[in-house]
Amino acid sequence: MASKGLQGVVIGQTKLADIDGDAGELIYVGYDIDDLAHHVSFEEVCFLLWNGRLPKQAELTELQRQLGSQRALRPEMLELLRAFPRDADPMAALRTAVSALGLYDSDADDISDEALRRKSIFLTAQVPTLVATFHRLRSGAEPLPPRPELGTAADFLYLLNGEEASATRVKTMDAALVLHAEHGMNASTFSARVTAGTKSDLYSAITSAIGTLKGPLHGGANVEVMHMLREIDESGVSPREWVLRTLDEGGRVMGFGHRVYRAVDPRAKMLREMADEVMRESGDAHWLELSDQIRAVMDEEMQKRGKKIYPNVDFFSASVYTTLGIPMDLFSAVFAIARVSGWTAHLLEQYANNRLIRPESEYIGPRGLTVEPIAQR
Ligand code: COA
Repeated sequence: MASKGLQGVVIGQTKLADIDGDAGELIYVGYDIDDLAHHVSFEEVCFLLWNGRLPKQAELTELQRQLGSQRALRPEMLELLRAFPRDADPMAALRTAVSALGLYDSDADDISDEALRRKSIFLTAQVPTLVATFHRLRSGAEPLPPRPELGTAADFLYLLNGEEASATRVKTMDAALVLHAEHGMNASTFSARVTAGTKSDLYSAITSAIGTLKGPLHGGANVEVMHMLREIDESGVSPREWVLRTLDEGGRVMGFGHRVYRAVDPRAKMLREMADEVMRESGDAHWLELSDQIRAVMDEEMQKRGKKIYPNVDFFSASVYTTLGIPMDLFSAVFAIARVSGWTAHLLEQYANNRLIRPESEYIGPRGLTVEPIAQR
């Protein structure tokens, strides 16, 4: 029997993340996501995923130094980004840029553990700069040089918006990166592993992952949430009326439900908590208030209808990112900035214990045909 979408098929073992969908729990290497998002930085999570333990202070300082010193783009990459069409999809731009990075790495094909670790740090440093630089160029602004003394979250917001972000904004961005760093055998991680399984190089594997994340069923869901919030805002009807009408018509409310979670997505819980502070500081709680109203109606209705449908991570990330000044069409690219840590951690596992990933398909086409001359077909 074919397993459509490989649902329920366990394709390998990992020490990186586990999800308890019924309890609404997510762990990275044994640590609860809630604990991590409150107490450690994105850089500490990178170290955790790559090394299987949290860093000591000297190790963290060294990783911060390495990331900071590798953020600047080489001139050829800047030229390439300048040549991209301004209206290019940011994920397509990122996919092409990451693929191009491999051209300039003289040992791109080295898949030894040492080389893979070096490249994991390099890509984690470069991706935020690529995203922010592409955005500035398409907006007609000159790209800014990265600031090595800033952390990943702070530097990204600086490169994107041209000014240093407040401590609250940096903290929220950093927590969002922590929450999106890793999520088990999701589609983009799987495609990265499939590419690595052929012993292709790390740049190719990350390029595959970015291409997979680009799809609206994976990275693009929070864009749909933002479209929905805007639509409700402009509709002239109350959020309650809009939600009830959508449900009665058999439609789906974006940002609710998840293939794995049958409880509130723990990442959504964290983002909601953090949203308060950043909204208070910005003085604009409009999107968050609207989100809360939708959530209240959904909670009530889903309970009445006996469905275990709860908010997922995308529901609150949409309004949080908008408040952080991140344009809607960059949401998936921000996801990639975080997930490059998880992808590379999975690739370290894959290359260390490699087996070609080659499932089978069930043939349902015709058999026994014979070729007729072309004039008689
Ligand atoms: N709004 C309203 N009803 C929803 C819903 C939503 N967002 N998500 C699921 N449901 C309902 C379904 O209509 C279905 O009802 P039924 O049993 O009467 O047919 C029931 O809940 C179970 O849904 P199902 O499609 O089996 O869940 P799934 O696990 O296959 O789907 C998603 C998961 C994510 C595809 C789905 O919840 C969805 O489309 N959500 C909206 C898009 C979104 O936010 N995606 C981001 C995911 S991170």
